[in-house]
Amino acid sequence: MSELAAGAATPALAPNGFRDTWCGQVLADRVDSRARVAGWVHRRRDHGGLIFIDLRDRTGIVQLVFNPDSSGASFELAHRLRAEDVLSAAGSVVRRAPETVNPELPTGAVELLVGEAELLADSETPPFQIEGYAGEASEDLRLRYRYLDLRREGMREGLALRHRVTAAIREFLDGEGFVDVETPILTRSTPEGARDFLVPSRTQQGSFYALPQSPQLFKQLLMVSGLERYYQIARCFRDEATRADRQPEFTQLDLEMSFVGADDVIAVNERLLAHVFERAGGPQVELPMERMGYEEAMARFGTDRPDLRFGLELVDLGDALRETEFKVFNSVLAGGGTIRGLNAGRREMPRSELDGLISRAQELGAKGLVWAFREGAGWRSPTAKFLSAEELAELNRRLGAEEGDLLLLVADKPAVSNAVLGQMRLDLAQRFDLIDPDDHRLVWIVDWPLFDWNEEERRWDAVHHPFTSPAGAFDPDDPGAARALAYDVVWNGQELGGGSVRIHDPEVQRAVFRVLGIDDETAEARFGFLLEALRFGAPPHGGIAYGIDRIVQRLSGAETIRDVIAFPKTASGFDPLTGAPAPVDEAQLKELGVAVHKPNLAGH
Ligand code: AMO
Ligand code: AMP
Repeated sequence: MSELAAGAATPALAPNGFRDTWCGQVLADRVDSRARVAGWVHRRRDHGGLIFIDLRDRTGIVQLVFNPDSSGASFELAHRLRAEDVLSAAGSVVRRAPETVNPELPTGAVELLVGEAELLADSETPPFQIEGYAGEASEDLRLRYRYLDLRREGMREGLALRHRVTAAIREFLDGEGFVDVETPILTRSTPEGARDFLVPSRTQQGSFYALPQSPQLFKQLLMVSGLERYYQIARCFRDEATRADRQPEFTQLDLEMSFVGADDVIAVNERLLAHVFERAGGPQVELPMERMGYEEAMARFGTDRPDLRFGLELVDLGDALRETEFKVFNSVLAGGGTIRGLNAGRREMPRSELDGLISRAQELGAKGLVWAFREGAGWRSPTAKFLSAEELAELNRRLGAEEGDLLLLVADKPAVSNAVLGQMRLDLAQRFDLIDPDDHRLVWIVDWPLFDWNEEERRWDAVHHPFTSPAGAFDPDDPGAARALAYDVVWNGQELGGGSVRIHDPEVQRAVFRVLGIDDETAEARFGFLLEALRFGAPPHGGIAYGIDRIVQRLSGAETIRDVIAFPKTASGFDPLTGAPAPVDEAQLKELGVAVHKPNLAGH
């Protein structure tokens, strides 16, 4: 166990009746002195005459030895001790015999020969072992007894790392003149694209507060106030499907600046990221960071959060197949779709796995997948017979295919072929171990479209949010052409944060709302306070927000953001520890004027 405490070093300890020394500090330099420690029984071994207890506190583990001759009444106590009992013990620090030295423990060269000990609290048998960390306990059980789960070293280190990240953020931003301001939790809806959590008002029955999806509107108001540089480590709430990297409540580093353009915001944030990574033991950040346009990211990687640590880039093949007789391809091209492909390199795959790739593509939304291996001038593929020799040669050329290379092609609408091949590219990198774990790639994605056509709902959506400024002049009659002054930062294929320069002209804001189908009246009703503020002299301003949970998860190597959140919720939004969400009394509902249509519990 390391000596990692919450801060950089083990904190000073003011001696009292419970202890005068941290467990992790009972080291060889203490030999022949006395020490009193306190903590939890990590492990107990009874060696006939002697009883050994590993005692654990936040700083580490020390071995206690109870001896019938020197430990007096405490020897009886030691007999009764069980895992996770809480103990204070005093004695002399002695060197271990060479054959009993434990090189795994920083304190492994010594032990504490106990003269006197006091049981401070009994523990029931824990539902899972505290030592060890692997997935031996189900996550539900770990969350149900989260306070025990957090006794584990790995979990404590996750929280300590999180603390170092937020401390580094505060340190840097304080030095840059940012002011930390809290914004309301009980507020009105902020449109970040998710469903709101609502809180019924007791005093105005039938009215609801919304929990903030982000502090977006308040930070803009703070710029109108002249605060110039704001930040907040802010809790945000979004009622959306939980995934490994999403929680219904999560934490953002949110910041905003006045009299800035995109480059100014990016410049401060690059230095911020470099500082935080340095303080938190992350990879070194090369400044200036790489930038890539949105269109380029989509064209080469099929996604706006490309993982740049490996190749397998997407290639557009439609032009090579304009005249093709292959029905699957020519019907997609005739319908305005594209054919995109990637070269997965020289691979061997049994037929069953190739069939698995087709099912995977279909699961991801494609109608099908063409697979092929370059063989001679053509292909070994069930599809080869449908394509002419010239077509095969041209496809091989465009894909840079060499003998034995595995080629994958998807014909569909650009959004579908991008999404499918973009994900299959990641799958293949995993499958063939193409990612060097020591390699790290941070990139700004810039030059975004402002709007995105939502085919299902037949309307334009904001690619970021409705407060994002267009780049230059913007023609409301041609929303598809509008570009945004937006930027996202992507680390190894994960979006860490995103932001933009904001609209500070109320007329432009109204025009953007109209494109989004929010007419002036609705805009006034929902965002009147913002539109009004923009009429009182709003400075040009912009900012960004990061997902802190995601940053810490990535830095710690944890598999889900739940591992770096003290008390997270399950995938279904449930908290097994407190039982939230839970039914409430009829009387409470009545007071709120809320009636519940009880779900049919029989499930019919
Ligand atoms: P956005 O919606 O992109 O931007 O959120 C910013 C960052 O927050 C993180 N994030 C989440 N983390 C965990 N669980 C979630 N459910 C979740 N949702 C988002 C992501 C994301 O990059 N107001 C704008 C920012 C701005 O324009 O300044 C906003 O909230 O890492
Ligand atoms: P089908 O004519 O549907 O049997 O498809 C012939 C081959 O083309 C099969 O290998 C399919 O997986 C593949 N295929 C079908 N639709 C697509 C598509 N949209 N993109 C790529 N391959 C496809």
